[in-house]
Amino acid sequence: MKTIGVLTSGGDAPGMNAAVRSVVRTAISLGMTVKGIRRGYNGLIDGDMIDLDARSVSDTIQRGGTFLYTARSPRFKTEEGMQEAIANCKREGIEGIVVIGGDGSYRGARDLSERGIPCIGIPGTIDNDISSTDYTIGFDTAMNTAMEMVDKLRDTSQSHDRCSVVQVMGRHAGYLALQTGIAVGAAAVLVPEIETDLSEVIEKIRHTNESGKKHFIVIVAEGYKTDVQTIAKMIQEQTKIESRATVLGHVQRGGSPSVRDRVIATEMGYNAVQLLSQGIGNRVICYQKGDIIDRDIFEALSMTKTLDHKMFEISNVTSI
Ligand code: ADP
Ligand code: F6P
Repeated sequence: MKTIGVLTSGGDAPGMNAAVRSVVRTAISLGMTVKGIRRGYNGLIDGDMIDLDARSVSDTIQRGGTFLYTARSPRFKTEEGMQEAIANCKREGIEGIVVIGGDGSYRGARDLSERGIPCIGIPGTIDNDISSTDYTIGFDTAMNTAMEMVDKLRDTSQSHDRCSVVQVMGRHAGYLALQTGIAVGAAAVLVPEIETDLSEVIEKIRHTNESGKKHFIVIVAEGYKTDVQTIAKMIQEQTKIESRATVLGHVQRGGSPSVRDRVIATEMGYNAVQLLSQGIGNRVICYQKGDIIDRDIFEALSMTKTLDHKMFEISNVTSI
């Protein structure tokens, strides 16, 4: 391939810039040129692209967000939108694309690959909810951000003998909530994947309060069935411990990427371009038991991933 494209799609994640930088510089080292496609698949449809050389990605490795911008593109899900995207690829001489995003973005990459534009997916989302990989770019930074913010909440919660009920992101998954919960020493973690009896959680808080514990942190995944305001109200009513609900929100998606995210993003970008340079497409890059591997995109999309129940158990055991 002489020219490849790179785009970021879906929710942004810290480390996406590091991945783009790696794609660009690896491609240049292999004699290819790179087009940056802006605002995800919308940029493909609208022909919104920029030439990227080694200097275009200077000073980006430490930055959160994505300098290519990102979007969710309903138009791309239509055959008409997809055909426009393909026509633009042909016009710009783009022979392959690196797509950095989540499972939704992978579906777009699969559809493009099926229509003759080979794509390689790189997992980028703070949710860590992509089935084909143990790890997604952005997860580590988001966990650290959430942890730092909950540590600050703990100061005020402790000063007032309160219970802080904190919602963290994760869409339908509880990976971010579980790891953050363990890291902040939460009294309870509530995730969509594991059925939890709220009355048992409240009873545990009441019981540990009697045994001397004065302030509490409860971490709730955004996909959990009950919202944080309701949970805080229930805890206050049933235990008489003053409770406050906090939604951490989009701040979890920002910030300078951690070492882990920068390094993994760089390695994944390198591997993705190596595949395209050999004419190999229709694959996704995965992190598996400490190694970076790649898989067929169809296989990747049919995989399932489960929350680590042992970690959930450890969280419960260590929160008494
Ligand atoms: P993520 O990649 O983080 O999972 P989304 O699910 O929002 O985020 O997907 C990002 C974009 O990928 C969508 O806006 C759409 O353009 C494209 N996409 C998602 N699902 C499909 C699909 N089934 N077919 C084609 N493109 C899709
Ligand atoms: O997928 C990343 C994520 O931040 C999820 O955790 C969250 O549910 C969603 O995106 C929020 O999306 P938006 O930025 O559209 O509000």
